[in-house]
Amino acid sequence: MNILVFYDERAMDSYVADLILQLIRKDPKAAIGFATGSTPQGVYQQLIQYYQDGVIDFSTVTAFSLDEYVGLPSHHPNSFQTAMHQALFDHINIKKENIHMLHGDALDMEQECIKYEKLLNEKQVCLQLLGIGMDGHIAYNEPGTSFQSSTHVVDLHSESRISSLGYGFEHLDEVPYQGVTQGIATIMNAKLLVMMAYGHQKAPLVKRMLEGEVTEKFPSSIIQKHPHVIVVLDQAAAKELEVPYETH
Ligand code: PGA
Repeated sequence: MNILVFYDERAMDSYVADLILQLIRKDPKAAIGFATGSTPQGVYQQLIQYYQDGVIDFSTVTAFSLDEYVGLPSHHPNSFQTAMHQALFDHINIKKENIHMLHGDALDMEQECIKYEKLLNEKQVCLQLLGIGMDGHIAYNEPGTSFQSSTHVVDLHSESRISSLGYGFEHLDEVPYQGVTQGIATIMNAKLLVMMAYGHQKAPLVKRMLEGEVTEKFPSSIIQKHPHVIVVLDQAAAKELEVPYETH
């Protein structure tokens, strides 16, 4: 595992955007797993800038998303689908048919999960962006989720629902109680995991993720078992780490 600690968020974002740029240049048909949440937003802005500058072409790239709320229409202003379109997809030349996102409003969620898992098996994700949730989740794999899990529906923990406030929901009772998510085994199948975290509030979580026991009680700890992981942190998120890391 490579742990890279950057001076600030801008430097983190540029590093990750450059990783994606290089990947697409090497493999224009790469499948990339994108994440929602606040953490990767700067990376997306940088990718849009690269696209506008003509240095990156997304026309043959495939995109997958990690998770979605259950029960919200896909085009709801607060859905993860809308968030990904607004943050990135609407601003680059990725083809609609190459964007694969979970539909939380599918009539049969079990079939939706099976369909998504099959697609992911057909086209292995080359690079999966990840963030860590305040309860240690990755995607919407909440504490207690099996490491063997495939794409599935989950009951969201209160920390996750509270984290959704500020993303369009004004009151907690508006936030859906369930999500649908790539499973932990699904995520571990990606060739490269790029885990990003910044800010003081993530510091104890980052420490537990990288130095703590690998346990289903803290789902993001599973990344310790992946053969190819890059952890990208700012100094604040890295401040409790005792394991060696590279500074940039
Ligand atoms: P955040 O969310 O990027 O908004 O901190 C991370 C997550 O919940 O996975």
